[in-house]
Amino acid sequence: MNEIELEITGFGKGGAGIGRAGRKRYLVDFAYPGDRVLALPVSRKKARLLKILRAGDARVEPRCEHFSVCGSCRWQGLDYGSQLRYKGELIEKLFSREVEVEPSPRIWYYRNRMDFTIAENAIGMRRYSSFAEVESAEGCLLLSKESDEIIRLSRKFFRKRELAAYNLLNKQGFLRYLVVREGKFTGDRLISVVTTAGEFPLESYADALGELAESFVWAINDSPADVSYGEISSFKGRDYLEERLAGIEYRIPAFSFFQTNPYQAERMLVLVRKMLGSAGRLLDLYCGVGTFSLALADLAGEVLGIEEDAKAIEAAGLNAKLNEISNAHFIAGRAEDVLPGLEKRFDVAVVDPPRAGLHPRVVRALNTLRPEVVVYVSCNPRTQAEDIRKLDGYELEELKALDMFPHTPHVESIALLTR
Ligand SMILES: C[S@@+](CC[C@H](N)C(=O)[O-])C[C@H]1O[C@@H](n2cnc3c(N)ncnc32)[C@H](O)[C@@H]1O
Repeated sequence: MNEIELEITGFGKGGAGIGRAGRKRYLVDFAYPGDRVLALPVSRKKARLLKILRAGDARVEPRCEHFSVCGSCRWQGLDYGSQLRYKGELIEKLFSREVEVEPSPRIWYYRNRMDFTIAENAIGMRRYSSFAEVESAEGCLLLSKESDEIIRLSRKFFRKRELAAYNLLNKQGFLRYLVVREGKFTGDRLISVVTTAGEFPLESYADALGELAESFVWAINDSPADVSYGEISSFKGRDYLEERLAGIEYRIPAFSFFQTNPYQAERMLVLVRKMLGSAGRLLDLYCGVGTFSLALADLAGEVLGIEEDAKAIEAAGLNAKLNEISNAHFIAGRAEDVLPGLEKRFDVAVVDPPRAGLHPRVVRALNTLRPEVVVYVSCNPRTQAEDIRKLDGYELEELKALDMFPHTPHVESIALLTR
């Protein structure tokens, strides 16, 4: 296909610019409303940005040297105020309601976790344009300044020990992922190395990285699945990270979920507390390590948290003890399996599912349990809006949006539903 000039008129799915030329319409990554661009159609619906012919007013110089190669922060070339405005517009379209997106308290080094791919040439992120290639994350502005040194020393150590990187294409090699997690409010840091089966010299690796982390974990993933977790084989220090949000201490197992922008997550907890006032019998679905359960426990008579990750549930129980909270209990299992069998009634349900939203059995169970109030927390307002339409007899009383993920098209939205 030939190059084509496009006028970018808005944002479409995945935060790509919508480019129009006459009746033709393409999605163009890294193009923003107001731009006029030269692009190359790569399919019927997508075109690759070749050149910006005229920059829109909201364009700024991206700060990261890897911008557009790595592709993680695809809105980094858009000024922050405009990022918030476009995220707000997305939510307004879905809910037909005006909402202002609260800015993140920090927009650089706001993440507490990065899962770096280990490749022969680099440790970093898979390239946007070619999944098989890895772009070094040295200089990445998402985690912390120390992550550069962690990558540099890790590379040096792996080379010296002649440890081969895993190759996704031929399924050969040893080193797969380097996962760095940080407790932003505790100063704790945990580094995990995920490998295929074999021997990893964890003690020497920890010595080589010295003071850069409190804890080191070695985990094995010998399956073809390209995932950044595995069975823990050994650890030095602790096999969990310590973090503190809104006065609650959390222990987070090496590979369990935790909110990735803790600065904004803390605000979210305060916001949900304010929304609820009191919580009676509280159900926390998809509870992770007890993030909402424990932060809301003092507003509730009793709390039940449900989560499929058994390690997270074990930590949630420990976290309750650690914070001297005695009214919170936890069940390990899939929400769609556990919830339909529950005999208890709840006054309030907090639901915080993964991006795919609520399982149909969870929607049915909630329609049977009929809690007075549902707080639906979501990192995907599209599935959130669809799910809310399926919940019978609720009214959308309040809708809030927080920017958890600066420089990406993602946004967190919180809906308070009452009967
Ligand atoms: C967006 S996270 C929210 C976690 C927690 N509310 C927090 O704020 O830290 C979603 C959680 O759902 C869990 N999960 C995924 N599928 C699940 C399922 N079918 N049933 C129960 N939990 C599930 C994940 O392990 C993850 O901890």
